[in-house]
Amino acid sequence: MESTIWTEKYRPQDFSEVKGQEHIVKRVTAFVEQKNMPHLMFAGPAGVGKSSLALVIAKKLFGESWRDNFLELNASDERGIDVVRVKVKDFARTRSIGNVPFKVIFLDECDALTKEAQQALRRTMEIYTKTCRFVLSCNFSSKILDPIQSRCAIFKFKPLAKEHIFDIIGKIAKNENISIDDKAKEALFDVSHGDCRKLENILQSSAAVTDKITEKTIYSIASQALPKEVKEILDETVQGKFLEARKKLLNTMLDNGLSGIDLIKQIQKEIWNIPAPDKKKLDMIKLCGEIEFRLVEGSDEFLQLEALLAGIMLLAK
Ligand SMILES: Nc1ncnc2c1ncn2[C@@H]1O[C@H](COP(=O)(O)OP(=O)(O)OP(=O)(O)O)[C@@H](O)[C@H]1O
Ligand SMILES: [Mg+2]
Repeated sequence: MESTIWTEKYRPQDFSEVKGQEHIVKRVTAFVEQKNMPHLMFAGPAGVGKSSLALVIAKKLFGESWRDNFLELNASDERGIDVVRVKVKDFARTRSIGNVPFKVIFLDECDALTKEAQQALRRTMEIYTKTCRFVLSCNFSSKILDPIQSRCAIFKFKPLAKEHIFDIIGKIAKNENISIDDKAKEALFDVSHGDCRKLENILQSSAAVTDKITEKTIYSIASQALPKEVKEILDETVQGKFLEARKKLLNTMLDNGLSGIDLIKQIQKEIWNIPAPDKKKLDMIKLCGEIEFRLVEGSDEFLQLEALLAGIMLLAK
């Protein structure tokens, strides 16, 4: 068993390998070709290529000497923005090596910064703007102060679409010599929600337990019930077969080692497919929210999920 982590092994090394963010990659490529770029802000959910693209930028801009000209920092460093500021200062003090007139600083998790820390960041960006370009990464650009936003070209990354997820799975499967059927690929897309890091981690864990990956492998590694099982539980509930539904619920939880929280998310997702008037379905979804809150607060899991089934059954009548 090899010890490399696939999220690193399969990190894009070139613009062409960053999937699904075409218009962003196109504009960034142009910056790199002109060896000139503004500060950038990469906003978007986890595992969609923000850090990867920043690394590709550095490698393409600086070639061999990219390590000397690229600094990666976590803005939410628990030791505070002052540590970040000192590191930026040390790095920005010397000129870039090679024929690009600036260095690049990648600051991850910028939306974890407080307002005050963001003010400090803004001043730092101003001071070093002659010698450095900042690439700021965050989940939501709306959490970043306007004056910082207005200094950056903002790029919004999207979760990866199915075709790209399938491309990536195909590439890894071929390279690692694993067999994965179409249903398992669908399952991977379903559990990863377009988060490529999550996808690669689940795939690697699955490959560690079997070389023939099926839908069942994926859902069990991802701590989820098969959608089919959840659907059956709901079908029986709606048909008024409370005892059968309850038994299936218990089995599903025990067989897959699921917690109530794991399962309630899937139930909520499946409710919209129940044959019931929309108004009733809304009430059921609302009920899921209430039960989930009780679970988070530490109520008995099975008791709460039974109450949920009972509630859904009464609503469906
Ligand atoms: N667009 C993509 N194309 C190909 N592979 C990708 C893409 N996005 C993510 N990956 C894969 O997922 C891994 C993690 O991606 P990355 O570190 O770029 O995510 P991120 O957007 O920076 O997420 P976070 O916000 O959690 O830091 C990469 O090493 C790569 O293997
Ligand atoms: Mg990142």
